[in-house]
Amino acid sequence: MTDPAPHAGHGRYDFETRQIHAGVLPEATFGARITPIYQTAGYLFGSFDDAEGRFAGTSAGDIYSRSENPTNAVVQRRLADLEGGVGALLVASGQAAIASTIFALAPAGRSVLATRSLYEGTKQMFRGSLRRQGVSFDFLDAEAPEEEWLARATPDTRALYTESIPNPKNDIVDLAKLARIAHRIGVPLVVDNTVATPYLLRPIEHGADIVIHSTSKWLSGHGSVLGGAIVDGGHFDWGANRDRFPVLSERGPDGSASYLERHGEQAFLRYLRRDVVNEYGPTLPPQSAFALLQGIETLSLRMDRHVANAREVAAWLEAHPAVASVDHPDLPSSPFHERAKALFPRGAGSVLAFDLRGGREAARTVLDALRLVSTMTHIGDVRTLAIHSGSTLHGRLTERERRDIGVTPGLIRLSVGLESVRDIVADLDQALAGL
Ligand SMILES: Cc1ncc(COP(=O)(O)O)c(C=O)c1O
Repeated sequence: MTDPAPHAGHGRYDFETRQIHAGVLPEATFGARITPIYQTAGYLFGSFDDAEGRFAGTSAGDIYSRSENPTNAVVQRRLADLEGGVGALLVASGQAAIASTIFALAPAGRSVLATRSLYEGTKQMFRGSLRRQGVSFDFLDAEAPEEEWLARATPDTRALYTESIPNPKNDIVDLAKLARIAHRIGVPLVVDNTVATPYLLRPIEHGADIVIHSTSKWLSGHGSVLGGAIVDGGHFDWGANRDRFPVLSERGPDGSASYLERHGEQAFLRYLRRDVVNEYGPTLPPQSAFALLQGIETLSLRMDRHVANAREVAAWLEAHPAVASVDHPDLPSSPFHERAKALFPRGAGSVLAFDLRGGREAARTVLDALRLVSTMTHIGDVRTLAIHSGSTLHGRLTERERRDIGVTPGLIRLSVGLESVRDIVADLDQALAGL
């Protein structure tokens, strides 16, 4: 097996050291210092008995790269280490990570409670393909009182879903409150931590049970590879209510041991790997895992610079007469500023949304005038990226739906990159001068 316990003796090191070293296994054949790309579909069995044992999960060793790959396994151990989880699983994209998690937690007929302010692609999946598969979703304002959340729970609720820094509105959630609610209902709190990364926030330390990433963003960091990850904190008691997660707690029809009996704190990840991801097949290619690993090795350096640049750009935009408002939690004007200071001492990410007084036409003028900043959909790149939310990401919504979630006609989302901040501001300045 290429996926043993993730901490592998690195727990005593600081984050900056672990982002470079955690999870590595020595490459025994040539002594390669960098984790190789294990470009193979499958793995040789040692014998008839070995093959049988690997399929039964009683002997170590990989089977087929749809479910396991040694390059991916190093990244999984590193991510689990950085997030403080007991293990992780890589998949083909952030969307695949979210879908796989919901498949594992909520079968047809069950439901998920979610905060209202989420990445629009996630909401589309919840309202679209997952709902068509028979899972229902109920969205509630993250600031709603605890009792209102509890009143929305039903016997079918199987998870509470949120984002630590919601994309693009930055309306930071009270994670400890949501964890309390989820645990009173008896379901896991699932947190998409893409925008924060484990360098800025580790949701498991605040009560989250499962952490999701689109690794396509800051973790890989250079806009070259898609990927997704699921990290399990290992604390949720899947067996507390035996009817709730029967796939984990029930024995097989032949009386064979349940996932929980066989794998303990690894039960959820084992189920996710063998019975969800291996069956549906959203595998991450090892080349992508390799690029992701290289990105993770400089995560802290990049995040410090992303945050510093974003703070300067946000303050500059806020002072510009053409800008009505800027949503960034590091700005004292943000209603989430105090919460951000407490939860994100290193800064609350590098995505910001700003609203132009001139509405949609002003947004067209500004975006078409940008020279250095790339107009495209994506976030978490070394390059600064901009997009008009209302006509693209939120284009399928009605005017009223957009207004309800704060996507105004003049709203531009900016993912602040690592260029010289003077050059980023100068480009925005010349583009805004055209208004
Ligand atoms: C917060 C968040 N989660 C998930 C995703 C989906 O990730 P991917 O594009 O890797 O499928 C995105 C994409 O922008 C995102 O911003």
